[in-house]
Amino acid sequence: MKFLIPAKEESLPYISEVCTGILKKSGIGHQDSSKTLLAIEEAAINIVKYAYDPGIEGDIELEFSLSDEKFSVYVRDQGKGIDPGLLKIYDVDDEESIISSHGRGFFLMQAMTDEFQIDSIPGRGTTIFLSKHLGGLECL
Ligand SMILES: Nc1ncnc2c1ncn2[C@@H]1O[C@H](COP(=O)(O)OP(=O)(O)OP(=O)(O)O)[C@@H](O)[C@H]1O
Ligand SMILES: [Mg+2]
Repeated sequence: MKFLIPAKEESLPYISEVCTGILKKSGIGHQDSSKTLLAIEEAAINIVKYAYDPGIEGDIELEFSLSDEKFSVYVRDQGKGIDPGLLKIYDVDDEESIISSHGRGFFLMQAMTDEFQIDSIPGRGTTIFLSKHLGGLECL
């Protein structure tokens, strides 16, 4: 299921609403659903803040999928991409690098999900992949 939404601040409440509905239907537990929602919101906020230069119109693409094992979402933009120097700091294979970094967005996306991946090409855009495994035990 794919959604294309204008990358504007006004779209953020709509994104939260759409995601809440989809998460509810997916059968994912309440806690996991809230965590996943937070991660998606952080990714969407980043697109509004950084992906497109002022005056340039662009979209936030959300693509959801659900299998027996997991709920997944791709959050994409066709914006300027993330500075490669910065991406090194956010090397997902190196947990320390994310935890010690300044922004809380990527940190939250990683902490709130089971899988987190950033793919970004300068000048072409960014794809954030987030997933949450189903059927796990929920804890606080
Ligand atoms: N979609 C994107 N396109 C371009 N740059 C991005 C995108 N998402 C993130 N960035 C860059 O990555 C940096 C880190 O993002 P992160 O969400 O971790 O922190 P932040 O947005 O700076 O702070 P916070 O999320 O705490 O408000 C941003 O400052 C921005 O430079
Ligand atoms: Mg952020």
